[in-house]
Amino acid sequence: ENESSVSITVVGASGDLAKKKIFPALFALYYEDCLPKHFTIYGYARSKMTDAELRNMVSKTLTCRIDKRENCNEKMDQFLKRCFYHSGQYDSQENFAARDKKLKEHEGGRTSNRLFYLSIPPNIFIDAVKCASLSASSGNGWTRVIVEKPFGRDSESSAALTKSLKQYLTEDQIFRIDHYLGKELVENLSVLRFSNLIFEPLWSRQYIRNVQLIFSEDFGTEGRGGYFDHYGIIRDIMQNHLLQILALFAMETPVSLDAEDIRNEKVKVLRSMRPLRLEDVVIGQYKSHTRGGVTYPAYVDDKTVPSGSLTPTFAAAALFIDNARWDGVPFLMKAGKALHNKRAEIRVQFRHVPGNLYNRNFGTDLDRATNELVIRVQPDEAIYLKINNKVPGLGMKLDRSNLNLHYAARYSKEIPDAYERLLLDAIEGERRLFIRSDELDAAWSLFTPVLKDLEEKKIIPEYYPYGSRGPVGAHYLAARHNVRWGDLGTDVDH
Ligand code: BG6
Repeated sequence: ENESSVSITVVGASGDLAKKKIFPALFALYYEDCLPKHFTIYGYARSKMTDAELRNMVSKTLTCRIDKRENCNEKMDQFLKRCFYHSGQYDSQENFAARDKKLKEHEGGRTSNRLFYLSIPPNIFIDAVKCASLSASSGNGWTRVIVEKPFGRDSESSAALTKSLKQYLTEDQIFRIDHYLGKELVENLSVLRFSNLIFEPLWSRQYIRNVQLIFSEDFGTEGRGGYFDHYGIIRDIMQNHLLQILALFAMETPVSLDAEDIRNEKVKVLRSMRPLRLEDVVIGQYKSHTRGGVTYPAYVDDKTVPSGSLTPTFAAAALFIDNARWDGVPFLMKAGKALHNKRAEIRVQFRHVPGNLYNRNFGTDLDRATNELVIRVQPDEAIYLKINNKVPGLGMKLDRSNLNLHYAARYSKEIPDAYERLLLDAIEGERRLFIRSDELDAAWSLFTPVLKDLEEKKIIPEYYPYGSRGPVGAHYLAARHNVRWGDLGTDVDH
């Protein structure tokens, strides 16, 4: 059993994702002794490269955690010796057959387990899957394929992609990544909710007034415009990352922590949601802005973006779950590029305390009297709960304070990158954090109608300056549902 081998083939090895995330994550796993004894890593791509050149390229991407600097160079050298390069076309069964031969040589008769990480554009997905499956599958162990979004661009194209994938792979061989599920605080969401008596009973319409899922980046599409323009922020961030968080947040208690039990609950809650309508959505696009003598470009200034593009780089949306637990509770999402900060967080705003004795001590701003739980996914991970307390002294003045679990202060360990967790799970066959095909279908059903509408009606996005807080339309949308965005208030978060 320990005489089995694992080979990881990174298809599209010279791409951005491979360099930024996949190789560094594999090295981190190696450093943490998480990889099996007999593992080998292969870069596969079209360009000609020697093993030494690949190693050189990979070595530039590797870093050690701050708390693990010891032996770092030595570990890197050992790791790089396990990395090889294979040049080939993505649609050539012959080239993949050569891959198979090389894999067999390295496996040396051990049980062969093979993981293919497809880090390539969607138009060549299927060809690569076909070749990997028909010409380079393992004969006596498992073969798994990790795929990255985009999984189509609407219900139809996504279903077509799934159908093609399933010609060559079974569902349990397909590992669809949503890297937000590998983030530490997203994983902690279930722990927080299901293992704390002070939260679990509150998790419903009875006590929660609204939930906000917020994603912002302080940079634009910067060179990724070609990809981005075809998808837009709703498909890039909302339909996957934010919706996945929402599903985990709102699902019913799963029977167990097994992957299928969790994914069953996620599908259930997604299927209880109302598909979005045009009036539930606000879209925006960033325009050029000059500040402090520096001019920041508009989205359409990106050379890879067609001029006059209406693709949204910002969106806000109000979603509803029509089940007993969440009836009437607005789930508000907001996602944007080129905003004033980089942040991902979940905000839970609770209802008023009925008949609060201290109401008059809050003055007119009763909103301030409600509790809010904030889960800051990144940066500077934290979970904090806003509570009311008395300002010390002889008077009776109330104040808002945070009970704060600030990760950097609580844990000296560096938090692993999402890709480390996900790659490790894929190697171990743990499917909990990967997207099942029925989940994907349910997610697309929610967004497809409104995406079609936006495109067909050529809805003009609201233009917002690069580096701003985004379009004011987001406030009106929230206000229609009696919601105030929590991230724009005065948040004392330390
Ligand atoms: C990706 C999107 O899925 O997530 C990018 O395609 C986005 O547009 C990225 O920048 C954000 O990921 P992270 O982990 O940096 O927050």
